[in-house]
Amino acid sequence: MKNTRPIGIFDSGVGGLTVLRQVEKLLPRENIVYFGDTARVPYGNKSRAAVLRFSAESFRFLTEKKVKMGIVACNTSSSLALMSLRRMFPFPVLGVVEAGVRGALRRTRKKRIGVIGTRATIKSGSYERAILRQEPKAKIFSEACPLFVPLAEEGITRGNLVQQVIDRYLRGMRSHRIDTLILGCTHYPLLKTALSRYFGAATEIVDSAEEVALFTRKILEEYEIKGSPRRKGKVEFYVSDEPEGFSRMAGLFLRRKVLVPKVVYVSH
Ligand code: DGL
Repeated sequence: MKNTRPIGIFDSGVGGLTVLRQVEKLLPRENIVYFGDTARVPYGNKSRAAVLRFSAESFRFLTEKKVKMGIVACNTSSSLALMSLRRMFPFPVLGVVEAGVRGALRRTRKKRIGVIGTRATIKSGSYERAILRQEPKAKIFSEACPLFVPLAEEGITRGNLVQQVIDRYLRGMRSHRIDTLILGCTHYPLLKTALSRYFGAATEIVDSAEEVALFTRKILEEYEIKGSPRRKGKVEFYVSDEPEGFSRMAGLFLRRKVLVPKVVYVSH
């Protein structure tokens, strides 16, 4: 039996399009509903209580769209709200933290792992806990890099300014000779080339978005909820505010044009 109900992808804004891009690439026949909470972005400097409430309200909207599973593309929300969302909603809910950690542990040889993300993600310790649960001997070095989000949204992803900001945040981490770096934020895949240049070839960079797509396929198979094998899937975009800004930035994150999304009000 094929299940043509959509996969729901939720993010605080536009950054989750890096996840959508990978899911579309791996699972082109799935229907997808993307919701970006653009009225309340950024989540990365908000409290746990606020992120929990915003995430639950966003997921309620996805429930109205009758999604068959939900992906929390936002690392901040995955770090702070995933367990609550799993308890609250009746479909499988996948976060980006576990996927990123799985990718890092597959690649690391020396078990010296760097994690970068928003302030809220790093403060939550979510990546550290998930890594140590599976690899208690790992050495983990974490750093919040709040300026990376506005840089990516402005399309400033290479050049001197970017290298200076990277150096300011990550000089210490580089001196620890990490062999794997987890990009623990939706926006950071846009800075992947600049980060590779900074850390050099001996450091592998793990983009959680690619790992999430692989995990999504696994869930669809396990729960036997795969979409139609014949048709190309449809993608619908919704935001909670500012649809023009979303479409403008969408090109950077998705590398294709996105029609102006529909605006929905999710606060209750
Ligand atoms: N989507 C957020 C994350 O991955 C970054 C933007 C924000 O702070 O809301 O953590």
